[in-house]
Amino acid sequence: MKNQITKPRVLVLGATGQIGSLIVQKLREDENVELRVTSRKPDEVNRLKAEGLDAAYLDLDKPETFALALAGVDRVFLLTGYTVAMLTQSKVLIDSAKKAGVRHIVHLGIFGQWDCTDPHFVWHQLIESYIKTSGISWTNLHPNMFMENVLAFFAPKGGVFTTYWGSQRMGWVAGEDIASVAATVLSEGPERHHGMDYWMSTEVLDANEIAGILTEVTGQEIRGEVGSHEDFKAVFTSGSVAVENWYAEGAIEFTRQVSNGEMGYIGTVRNDTPFITGVPAMGFLEWAENNKAKLISLIIN
Ligand SMILES: NC(=O)c1ccc[n+]([C@@H]2O[C@H](COP(=O)([O-])OP(=O)(O)OC[C@H]3O[C@@H](n4cnc5c(N)ncnc54)[C@H](OP(=O)(O)O)[C@@H]3O)[C@@H](O)[C@H]2O)c1
Repeated sequence: MKNQITKPRVLVLGATGQIGSLIVQKLREDENVELRVTSRKPDEVNRLKAEGLDAAYLDLDKPETFALALAGVDRVFLLTGYTVAMLTQSKVLIDSAKKAGVRHIVHLGIFGQWDCTDPHFVWHQLIESYIKTSGISWTNLHPNMFMENVLAFFAPKGGVFTTYWGSQRMGWVAGEDIASVAATVLSEGPERHHGMDYWMSTEVLDANEIAGILTEVTGQEIRGEVGSHEDFKAVFTSGSVAVENWYAEGAIEFTRQVSNGEMGYIGTVRNDTPFITGVPAMGFLEWAENNKAKLISLIIN
């Protein structure tokens, strides 16, 4: 009888979201792994299946959906949404992964120092600690501020691009690079990446520098404005961004701590991306050029 070499099966959570969907695009072309994607919405599971993907129903709030999705899985990309529920969701998912024989968890976390106090950063750190105690091999990804937030939380309005952390500079990373790092780690597995923390903060910019790039790329005059964490509250209360209260409070605390210098490290470059992917990380100008149409439509609407 011929020996069959089985490829590791990778399970991607958050496959319908901004980072997860980019990872799926990369891993579906990867001949080194078998890919399984998940969604908590049966319609989305069917859509993904119709695209030819191995798709499983998994709702992080329903532990009874974990076993079937995890069956036969070797590596998990653990992504949770913008919610304090990530604590319970991740703890139970990690326990289930252990029972299912998963060998490697790649966690999407935050760009935080070990003793930081901002709540939503702390939640991610607790999850990382729990993964480490599980005995499963781990790799932690630490992206700084997603450039994609300029299309959402920090969308330019009325010719103004506003930051909410005073005049401090912020480190930015493109979702495309986070996905490339995650896909590479998931493909290469724990032999190369166990026990590694990868930091992704590609370029440090302030409100005026970003406004200058947006002006150059879109051809529309955009002015940079420096707001405070108090102004950031209005972004959530206006209803323009739908985020639960716990997370919103954490995000406001984040901007407060960046403004007053407690999180000064957030304005630093730590660019591990090319070490993993072998290609340079994307700067803000290139990201803006790639997203020119979306930016123009945001600015003119
Ligand atoms: N934005 C930043 O600057 C930044 C920086 C560092 C770290 N992060 C971290 O990045 C993560 C979010 O990544 P993202 O921006 O890609 O998120 P996203 O676009 O909001 O996508 C979240 C994904 O998770 C899925 N999901 C949500 N609740 C679920 C549940 N109960 N069960 C199963 N799946 C569920 C969503 O599915 P549906 O389509 O069904 O909703 C979606 O696919 C957060 O943990 C955040 O802390 C963000």
